[in-house]
Amino acid sequence: MDVYGLLGNPVSHSLSPPMHEAAYRELGISARYVTFEPESEALEAAVSGADALGIRGLNVTIPFKRDALSLVESDELATRIGAVNTIDFGGSSQKPTGHNTDAAGVRRAFEHHGTELDGTQAVLVGAGGAGRAVAFALAEAGAVVKIANRTKERAENLANAVPRASGHGLDDLPNLLADAEILVNATSVGMDDDRSPVPSESLSSQLTVMDIVYRPLETRLLREARAAGAETIDGAWMLLFQGVEAFELWTGREAPVGMMNDALRGELSGEADAFK
Ligand code: ATR
Repeated sequence: MDVYGLLGNPVSHSLSPPMHEAAYRELGISARYVTFEPESEALEAAVSGADALGIRGLNVTIPFKRDALSLVESDELATRIGAVNTIDFGGSSQKPTGHNTDAAGVRRAFEHHGTELDGTQAVLVGAGGAGRAVAFALAEAGAVVKIANRTKERAENLANAVPRASGHGLDDLPNLLADAEILVNATSVGMDDDRSPVPSESLSSQLTVMDIVYRPLETRLLREARAAGAETIDGAWMLLFQGVEAFELWTGREAPVGMMNDALRGELSGEADAFK
């Protein structure tokens, strides 16, 4: 029996166990995916302990993504993003390897919807941990990235690290969106509240709008974007494809994307029903 898991704190509401276990069932892989909640001081011991126990792979989430970088042999993209969300213990190197599948998750979510990023003008709202991964994903795929953040300085700092990017305050959003084709929200605005980080008047049918918030699945931003005639991509798609990418990295097999998507959306709609 192979063991995979998630390191984070808290992890009790994670959707990764049902998503990954759906893939194991579908492909007949004998494995379990479990969650671990170490104290921050114990992160290094947790990673080396996992290695010693023969755990095959770990996802890493808040608050450990940045600290995990130095505990493993991180690949180039994870190093540039400054965060590891996937550790692979199966490689031949001395140290476990670290990767960032959040960025691939964004790219693959757009690909899945048939949205071309190369050569586009993209506006990213948010310059926190999630924003960093999105910014690199958009830039790697060939988009020109305008980063708008409540704290403008944070957007400017991120823009300095990302090719073809510029940093702005939120008040620039109407201007930036006037000639954009892609909009991504990577702030926490809209999570468990009915607010949007983008003025609805700035949304139009020329946009494809992705929200990385997935609780709720239909955020105010996505609702207003759809009303304006825009294409929308909800937050479960990035979550799905970061998991798909991790699964493929760990197992070397093509992930059963449809089954993983069904499991994820089943969990999310169960949660939504429970709140009604
Ligand atoms: P994460 O790792 O999830 O990205 P984070 O690093 O705390 O979390 O970043 C949260 C992001 O949401 C930031 O871009 C933050 O803006 P600031 O850098 O100005 O803090 C943004 N954010 C959070 N609450 C916000 C609000 N009420 N309005 C606008 N932006 C907000």
